[in-house]
Amino acid sequence: MTATALERPRDAIDDILADYPNAGREALIPILQDVQDREGFLSRESIGRIGQYLGLPASKIYGVATFYNQFRFQALGKNHIQVCRGTACHVKGSLSILDAVRHELKIEPGQTTKDGQFSLEVVACIGACGLAPVICVNGEFFATMTTAQLRQILEDFREGVQ
Ligand code: FES
Repeated sequence: MTATALERPRDAIDDILADYPNAGREALIPILQDVQDREGFLSRESIGRIGQYLGLPASKIYGVATFYNQFRFQALGKNHIQVCRGTACHVKGSLSILDAVRHELKIEPGQTTKDGQFSLEVVACIGACGLAPVICVNGEFFATMTTAQLRQILEDFREGVQ
């Protein structure tokens, strides 16, 4: 006998959805945020269940979620890189830093490398504008980044030096 939704033990997604009784599509973004906060990312299964709950097709949910940088569709890597794209960092060249990360790791923002070593996220100002351009890896800030420094930092994290 196959398990039905009713037989499935209540889990974190059920708890989150229960916080949004009679919700419509206006609740989509907060629900996605809650699920990501809890699970770390938006899995295919989570998206399907949110869609069922809100009466929205998964394609619609992906369409909305991919519009926002904040959502991830893969689990975070062992090393989570956040590249600041706020104004001060932008003026000081953060786009070239972001491009260098994308090039070095061959992933886009919101993705994780196949080996699970790195994930990449683009963030707005992270409150260290005097250090621009700045990146954050696993909560540690790296100031006045250059592409050469970036390569060294990636190498150090890859080898577990950091
Ligand atoms: S703009 Fe990057 S830390 Fe403020």
